[in-house]
Amino acid sequence: MEPSCGDGVFLRQLKVQNQKFNKVIAIELNRAEAEKADNIHLDNTSVINTDFHLYCNETIDQFDFVVGNPPYICYQYFDEEQQKDAAKIFHRAGLKYTKLTNAWVSFVVGSSLLLKEKGKIGFVIPAKILQVSYAKQPREFLAHFYNKINIISF
Ligand SMILES: C[S@@+](CC[C@H](N)C(=O)[O-])C[C@H]1O[C@@H](n2cnc3c(N)ncnc32)[C@H](O)[C@@H]1O
Repeated sequence: MEPSCGDGVFLRQLKVQNQKFNKVIAIELNRAEAEKADNIHLDNTSVINTDFHLYCNETIDQFDFVVGNPPYICYQYFDEEQQKDAAKIFHRAGLKYTKLTNAWVSFVVGSSLLLKEKGKIGFVIPAKILQVSYAKQPREFLAHFYNKINIISF
């Protein structure tokens, strides 16, 4: 699953590298970008034009692997519905919702909730996750939720 696929850079790589998989779900909020991703015509792939937060709270799908390069948007710029959906993800994960946080946090936490028991995620996230106070909760969440974390820093 990819929660914010944009024009499908990761989907294209699956195709170029002829990777084997059963099924891919790719989510993208922006219709034009979602159409570009869909036009890659990767086999067994559904590109869904919706808000990831909404998808995350409604789906019964569970995944072996999630890969993502999430949006970096302060919650104060979310509309009311998005804030409610993001807050629901936080609550499902046992975290306290704060409007000081950022979209990449609910993408990482929400994606974690959609994993099968031995699932993995691979995310491009800001290096400041290691420092900023608003990321204290997600840092603790990740540290307890996963039994192994690899950080690749540039
Ligand atoms: C940093 S880009 C990454 C795109 C692609 N994965 C890549 O690496 O090129 C983030 C993407 O998230 C999308 N996006 C923003 N808010 C979203 C939301 N609530 N749900 C799903 N996608 C969203 C944006 O339209 C944008 O395409």
